[in-house]
Amino acid sequence: MPRGGPTAAPQVLRVHHDATFGPEAYRLDVSTAEVVLTAGGPAGERYGRTTLDALGADVPLGTIVDAPRFPWRGVMLDVARHFMPVEFLLRLVDLLAAHKLNVLQLHLTDDQGWRLPVERYPRLASGEHYALDDLRRVVEHAAGQGVTVVPEIGLPGHVQAALAAYPELGNDPDRPLEVWRSWGISPHTLNLEESTLDFFRHVLDELVEVFPAEHVHLGGDECLPDEWATTPRARERIAELGLAGPHEARAWFSARMAAHVRSLGRTPVYWYEKADGPPGAVAMTWLDEDSGAAAAFAGHDVVLTPHLRTYLDYPTRLEPGPFAPDRVLPLENVYTFDPPTPHGAPGRVLGVQAQLWTEYLPTPADVERRAFPRLCAFAEVAWGTAGDYPDFLARLRAHLARLGLNTEWKEPPWQPGRA
Ligand code: ACM
Repeated sequence: MPRGGPTAAPQVLRVHHDATFGPEAYRLDVSTAEVVLTAGGPAGERYGRTTLDALGADVPLGTIVDAPRFPWRGVMLDVARHFMPVEFLLRLVDLLAAHKLNVLQLHLTDDQGWRLPVERYPRLASGEHYALDDLRRVVEHAAGQGVTVVPEIGLPGHVQAALAAYPELGNDPDRPLEVWRSWGISPHTLNLEESTLDFFRHVLDELVEVFPAEHVHLGGDECLPDEWATTPRARERIAELGLAGPHEARAWFSARMAAHVRSLGRTPVYWYEKADGPPGAVAMTWLDEDSGAAAAFAGHDVVLTPHLRTYLDYPTRLEPGPFAPDRVLPLENVYTFDPPTPHGAPGRVLGVQAQLWTEYLPTPADVERRAFPRLCAFAEVAWGTAGDYPDFLARLRAHLARLGLNTEWKEPPWQPGRA
C-alpha cells in the first residue's frame, strides 16, 4: 500500500532484467522523465508493476528497492465446509496478486464435503464439486498472476465425507455414515489398512495431475484416536504395526502419505500440532505462535499460521455468535503480528499464511467481508513492510477504494489490551 512523499507521474516505463536480483525482488528508479523497473524475472517485474499501479499518480521520486521477507505468502480458502464457485476462486487469486501474496491453498475435503473429482473413485465427489477443467483454469489463471495453488486433502481425520462415500475406508464399514451436517471435530477417522493407504495414494496420484505445485497439503489436524482405541481390528492393526498405541496412528498414517507425496516428486505439508510430523514435511503451525520455533527446531520447514493472528474467519470483535470468546481477531492483531524466525534451527520459516475457514461463511460475499481489510494488513506482514499501525489505517481506505473493496469497514471501538 502506498506511502506519501514528493511525487511525479512519469509516463515512460522501462523494464530491465538483472539476474543478480532474487526472483521476487525489484527496484524502481523514478525520475521526472521516466521510471526504470529492474527485476530478476517475471515475479519481480510483476511486483514492480503492482507497486506502480498502487501508487498511481503518486509515484515518489527516487529509488524503491523492494523484496519480500518470505517466499510463502499464502491464503487458505476452505471450499469443503461451503462450496465456493470457481468465479470466486479466480477473483480471490486476483485479490491475492494485488496484495503480492503468492500461494492459494485450497482446502478441498473435509467431514462436510469432498470437492475434488477423482476418476477412480467417482462417489467421493457426489456432492457439489469442481470440474477438473475448472480447477485447471484456476491453476492456470493463478500461475499467470504469480500465485501457486496448493491443494489440501485432509487425512486421516476430517474424512467423514469420504467415509460416507466409501464406508470400507472407515473403522466400522458396516455402519453407514452421512456427509456431516454439523461443525466441530468428527470422531470418525480412516482405518489403518494397507488398502486404505492405497486408496489415498491413488487419490494423490490423480491430484498431482491437476495441481503442478511443489507442495501438497495432507491435513493431519484434529484427529481423534478414539475409534482406533475402541475398534478391535484397529487395535490388532496397531499391534501388528508395532505402534505404542492409538495415539501414534495419526503420525504413522501421515508419514505413509507423506512418503507417497515425496515419491511423486512433491513436498508434503501438514497441520502441525506436535513434533511427530513426517520428516521433510512442511509444518503449518496453527495452534499458537510458539509452535513455529518448536517445529523449526524439530527440523521442519515452517509456514506460520497461528490462529489468533491469521484466522480471518474469526470475528474482529467480541460479538454474539458461534465463536468462543477467545477467538477474536482485530485488524490490529493481524497487522502487529511479528513472525518469529528462530535462529539456529535446522528448519526454515518459509512464510506465513492467512486462513479463511467457511463454517460460518456460506457465500463468497461473506468470505470477502471477513477477509478484508484484514488481508491487507496480513499482506504487509507477509511482505515484511508492516510498520506503524496508525499509518496503515491512514492509507487503508484509499487502498480499499482503489481495489473496489468495501470501504464501509470501521475500526471497532474495542481494542485488545485497552478494554
Ligand atoms: C485447524 O484449524 N484445524 C488447522
